[in-house]
Amino acid sequence: MILVTGMSGYIGSHTAVALLKAGKDIVGFDNFYNSSFEAVKAVESLSGRSFPFYEADLRDIDSMERIFKEHNIDAVVHFAGLKAVGESVAKPLFYYENNICGTVNLLKLMEKYGVMRFVFSSSATVYGEPKSVPINEDFPLSTTNPYGSTKLYIEGILKDMCKANKEFSVALLRYFNPIGAHESGLIGENPNGIPNNLMPRICQTAKGIMKSLTVFGDDYPTPDGTGVRDYIHVCDLADGHIAALDKIEKDTGVHIYNLGTGKGYSVYDLIHTFARVNGVEVPYTVCPRRPGDVPEMYSDPSKAKAELGWEARLGLEDMCRSSWSFIKDK
Ligand code: NAD
Ligand code: UD1
Repeated sequence: MILVTGMSGYIGSHTAVALLKAGKDIVGFDNFYNSSFEAVKAVESLSGRSFPFYEADLRDIDSMERIFKEHNIDAVVHFAGLKAVGESVAKPLFYYENNICGTVNLLKLMEKYGVMRFVFSSSATVYGEPKSVPINEDFPLSTTNPYGSTKLYIEGILKDMCKANKEFSVALLRYFNPIGAHESGLIGENPNGIPNNLMPRICQTAKGIMKSLTVFGDDYPTPDGTGVRDYIHVCDLADGHIAALDKIEKDTGVHIYNLGTGKGYSVYDLIHTFARVNGVEVPYTVCPRRPGDVPEMYSDPSKAKAELGWEARLGLEDMCRSSWSFIKDK
C-alpha cells in the first residue's frame, strides 16, 4: 500500500490517478489547505477505483498515525506542503513548521512502523541561481527564499536518514515547472486567490479575470528577451513517480532526479502557443523584471531517462490545451 500525502492537490491528484491505473493500491490524505474533496472524487471516477482517504495534517502526528495503524504501508509519496514563494518570505515560520516539522513527523511514523521507501517532491528551486544551463543533478545547491530552503533542508534530512539506516531508500524528485492538466478536464490546478505562476495567470487573463498579463521583463539575454523555463506536463510528472517507486524498491540509498523535458520555452512562447491552440486572446504588458527571477532555467533530464527509463512525452501544445480545458468553465 502506498501512502500519498497531499493527495487532493494538483500533482498529488494526477499521480494518484496514474498509480491507481498502474494497479497500485493507495491510501491518501490531505488537510485541504489548498485543495478540496472534489479532487478525491474525481480521482476515483478517473481511475474507476475507490481507495481509503483521510483528512489529516502533517503537523498533527496523531491524525497521521491512524493511517499507519490501519494500513500496511510500504512506501510514501510525499506531496503535502506549502509552495507559495512570496508567502514563504512573509511567513517563514509557517513554512518551516508545515513543511519541515510536518515532514519530520511523517518520517518519525515511518521509522516507528518500519516503512523504508520515500519519494519526495523537491524542486528545481534548490539550484538557486544556476551558472549555466542545462542543469544536472550535480549542480551546486542554494536557495533564495524560505520555500526553497524547506526543500533543501528536507533533502538534507532524507540524506541523513539514509546514512543512518542502510535499508532506507529515497527518491528526491526535483520538478521543473509543472503545468497542464488531465485530459478529462476533471482535475488540474486551480489556485486560490491571485496566482503567482505564469500558466495560472495566463488562464486568468484569457478568462478576463485579469485584464492584462504582466510579462516580467523582455530584456533578458534570451532569444526573445523573456524568461525561459522548462515546463513539464503534470501527467508526465505523475508517471515519473511510478518510475521512481520502482527504482527505490530495487535500490536503497538516495536517488536524485531532475524531472523536466530538457527544453526551454520563453514567456512569449507560452503566451502565443496558448492563444493559438485555444483560439483565445491573452493581452499582455511588459513590466520590469520580477526580483529573484533568473533568465533561463532548464533541466538535463538524462539521468532520469538512463536510470528510471522515464522521459517526458507531452509537448507545449498539450500543456496549453489541457490547462485551458480544465479551467475555462470554472
Ligand atoms: P498543491 O498545493 O496543489 O498540493 C499540496 C497539497 O498539500 C494541498 O492539497 C494541500 O492542501 C496539502 N497540504 C499542505 N500542507 C499540509 C499539511 N500540513 N497536512 C496535510 N496536507 C497539507 O501543490 P502541488 O503543486 O500539487 O505541489 C505538490 C508538491 O510538489 C509540493 O510539496 C510542492 O512544493 C512541490 N512542487 C511543486 C511545484 C509546482 O510548481 N507545482 C514545483 C516544484 C515542487
Ligand atoms: C516559481 C518560483 C519557484 C517555484 C516555482 C513553482 C519564484 C521566483 N520562483 O518559479 O521557486 O518552484 O514557481 O511553483 O517565484 N512570469 C511572467 N509573468 C507572470 C508570471 C511569471 O512574465 O505573471 C515569468 C517569470 O518571470 C518567469 C516565468 O514566467 O520567467 C515562469 O514564472 P513562474 O511560473 O512563476 O515560475 P518560476 O519563476 O520558474
